[in-house]
Amino acid sequence: MAKLTIIHTIQELQALLDRNKRQGQTVGFVPTMGFLHEGHLSLVEHARKQNDVVVMSIFVNPAQFGPGEDFDAYPRDAERDAGLATEAGVDILFMPTPEEMYPQEGGIRILPGSQAAELCGASRPGHFDGVLKVVLKLFNIVDPDHSYFGMKDAQQLAIIETFVRDFNLRTTIVRVPTVREQDGLAKSSRNVHLSEDERKEAPAIQQALQKGARLVAEGLPIDEIEQQVSDYIVANSSGSIDYVSLLAYPALTKAIDNTSEVIIACAVKFEKTRLIDNIIISTKG
Ligand code: PAF
Repeated sequence: MAKLTIIHTIQELQALLDRNKRQGQTVGFVPTMGFLHEGHLSLVEHARKQNDVVVMSIFVNPAQFGPGEDFDAYPRDAERDAGLATEAGVDILFMPTPEEMYPQEGGIRILPGSQAAELCGASRPGHFDGVLKVVLKLFNIVDPDHSYFGMKDAQQLAIIETFVRDFNLRTTIVRVPTVREQDGLAKSSRNVHLSEDERKEAPAIQQALQKGARLVAEGLPIDEIEQQVSDYIVANSSGSIDYVSLLAYPALTKAIDNTSEVIIACAVKFEKTRLIDNIIISTKG
């Protein structure tokens, strides 16, 4: 197994990566907030195949959590993460402190456009401003050839793809499919906050989305599909609906006539945590 280098400062990371880049090595980047699971490890697996050096960051980014959200409760386990990162083949693990990433607040905000108007952008105001801020900083620090993002966070991925295109950022975004438990629940660091009963019910989310996909194929109206997906989740779990929305993907507009793919995305609140999931459906038959 290759040796993992753990780095906490930007200066050290850039000095190390400068050496790799001078030798002509390509860099793949997996940004995370830690508490790693198979979803993250699948990002690493993709990065490992396409690059000489794989860098993972672990940073629970305060800028993307709103007041009253789960920043403090977000699960953290640096030692376990380092072990999993080593096994997965990460070369460099970047674990900065909040002070290293945000030494002072300059007040500059990056505002996402219309893709942030719905879904998590609507129910977590400012969330994607914070995501874009940290992602831009991380891209500038790591300067990766390829950057890997999971489809479970489909809205985040769509916004970051637009950000990279609109601002000519020099990295290629690679979409990686959602990894699921055997019963269909999307892998998420937040799943540890489900009670035993909630864990048994949570696969209803993916079942509801699959049902939604069948209703899209049958040509039902959008609001009826959204209602039936919500009803299924409410009938089969104790979760309450934050949103269920059917939109064009990746534009994330309500107008779906000229799109080749639609997304049904949902967020469901359980007692201690809020889970998101989605399904993407081709409209071309
Ligand atoms: O998807 C995540 O884990 C985070 O939003 C990211 C991209 C690492 C930015 O903090």
